[in-house]
Order: sequence, then C-alpha cells, then structure tokens
Amino acid sequence: MNDTAAHHSILVGVDGSASALRAARWAAQEAARRNMPVHLFHACVLPPLGPHTAAVTEAGIVEALIEQGHQWLREARREAWDAAPGVQVQTDLRVGAAAQELINESARARLVVLGSRGLGGFAGMLVGSVAVGVAAHGDCPVIVVRGRLPEDEPPTGGPIVVGVDGSAISDDAVEFAFEEAGLRAVPLIAVHTWLDISVAETWSTPPFDVDLDAIEADERRLLAERMAGWREKYPDVELRQEVVRDRPLRGLLAQAEGAQLIVVGSRGRGAFTGMGLGSTSQALLHHSECPVAVVRPR
Ligand SMILES: Nc1ncnc2c1ncn2[C@@H]1O[C@H](COP(=O)(O)OP(=O)(O)OP(=O)(O)O)[C@@H](O)[C@H]1O
Ligand SMILES: [Mg+2]
Repeated sequence: MNDTAAHHSILVGVDGSASALRAARWAAQEAARRNMPVHLFHACVLPPLGPHTAAVTEAGIVEALIEQGHQWLREARREAWDAAPGVQVQTDLRVGAAAQELINESARARLVVLGSRGLGGFAGMLVGSVAVGVAAHGDCPVIVVRGRLPEDEPPTGGPIVVGVDGSAISDDAVEFAFEEAGLRAVPLIAVHTWLDISVAETWSTPPFDVDLDAIEADERRLLAERMAGWREKYPDVELRQEVVRDRPLRGLLAQAEGAQLIVVGSRGRGAFTGMGLGSTSQALLHHSECPVAVVRPR
C-alpha cells in the first residue's frame, strides 16, 4: 500500500481463529461505514531457530505454515465480503512475531481490529497476549472485538460509551467516540467516574468532613465544560453525560450494559508515561461484554 493510501484502511489481524473471523466481519462493516478498504493481515510465526532448524525447513514446515496462513486469509476475506458485500479487501502475509508485525503495520492504518482470543492461550483465558500487546503499543486506535464470553458474537445495537477522565489522552478517546457514534447514528454516553477508592467499603463514615455531593456537583460541571466543544463539533450526536461515584472499571462496565462499543484512552491520569496500558483499559479488555476501542495518541 502506498503512503497516500495510509491511514485510510482498517487493519485486521488474522490467525485462523473464530475470534479473528468475527474481527474481520466487524472490520468489514466498519470499513463500509467509513468507505475504507479492509487490510487482512497474517503474521506467520515460524518455529524458533535451534539445532533442528535445518530438519524443520527440510520437512517443508515453513512452506506449509505460509500456505496455511494464505488459506486463513482467504477464509477471512470470504467472511468480510459476506458481512459487507462490495467492501474492498486487501490481504497480506508477513513472516514475523504477531504483535510486533501488527504494531509496525498499525502506523499505516486508520484502525486496527483484532479478536479477543486467538489460536493459542488456554480455555479460561479472556484475552490473548497479541490483543493486549497491540492495544498497548499500536500506533492508531485498536479495537478488540468481543462479546460476553470469548466465543460470543459482539453486540450490534446500543449506544457507545466513552470513559472521560479529563486527561489529554481521554480527549482523543472522546473524539474517536463521537466519530463512531456519528457513523452509527447512535447515542454517546460520556462517563466520568470520580472516586478511585470506595468510600462505602473503606469506612462506615468518611473520616473527615468532606461534602461528597458538592464534589459530585463540581465533577458534573467539569464534565459538561469538557464536552461543550465536542457537542458543537458533533451536533447530530445525542450525548448523555454520566457522573458516577465509583471506581473507573466498575463504573464503566455498569454504564456499558447494552452498549455496542466502549472507548477508552490507553492510559489515564494515574498511569506513568512508560506504561502502555493503564489498569482500567487493561481490565476492560478482560471484562467488557462488548468490543473495546483503545485510543492512543499517534
Ligand atoms: N499471527 C497472527 N497474525 C495476525 N493476527 C494475529 C496473530 N495472532 C493473533 N492475532 C490477532 O490477535 C487476536 C488475539 O489473539 P491472541 O494471539 O492475542 O490470543 P491467543 O492466541 O488466545 O493467546 P496467546 O497468543 O497470547 O497465547 C486474534 O483474534 C487476531 O485478531
Ligand atoms: Mg495467539
């Protein structure tokens, strides 16, 4: 793909799993809404080099893995066309480590779409290492497609939820969420949670004289101020604002019941700069019941 076409395609990680096929379908519908091509991408992970490498190569294992990768890509292309007939699809196979290859390729994409699980992992695992790694270090928004359980279809209806913590990264997430809500013509729920510890669980009465209701009123005003500019930019999107006195993960999960997408920044105010994913974003990938979009500044 040349660079002028860059940032105008939706990159999908394909690994032969049912979860990746669901990602391909989700991405194809997104591509149709955004009028962009889908770029189906398989990283072919070869057996590690070692004393038996020569024997492995002789046995034709490398060729077999590559052929299998191409077969998975053809299968994913059929799913994409089935989900969004007429959508433009490009396929690519590269030999290398999956997370690293997808992160490299994400620099040229508008979005990355992945399944929550792949062929590896173990039965009870909720989200795979490639999904977490690309969400943490991808160069554009990364959507991990999931339903309630790893094998469930993602929900298709309902509002979009965005977590707002007032940081610059959460502003990028808010913009992405408005764009998504506009494309789908569904309401957007902006959720601000403002208590990192649970007062009720920690003390029967707060140990000092704080007026929680006054703080909450302030938080509500700050959220409204923060959203005012976006409201102007996206007047067609129906916006609901929720200020929740709870920890971020619980607050967001509760608000996202029945939603079709949760959007968060890669990290919030709490995480230090070197960290790829803040704890809330990380936990959402494991516990959300709908697709999660992790937005990182480019
Ligand atoms: N080799 C690959 N090439 C392209 N995309 C991949 C590859 N491996 C994984 N993916 C993408 O990442 C998603 C999540 O898979 P992941 O590998 O993270 O989970 P897993 O295989 O269950 O666990 P793990 O690999 O950590 O043992 C897949 O649905 C797919 O979209
Ligand atoms: Mg895997």
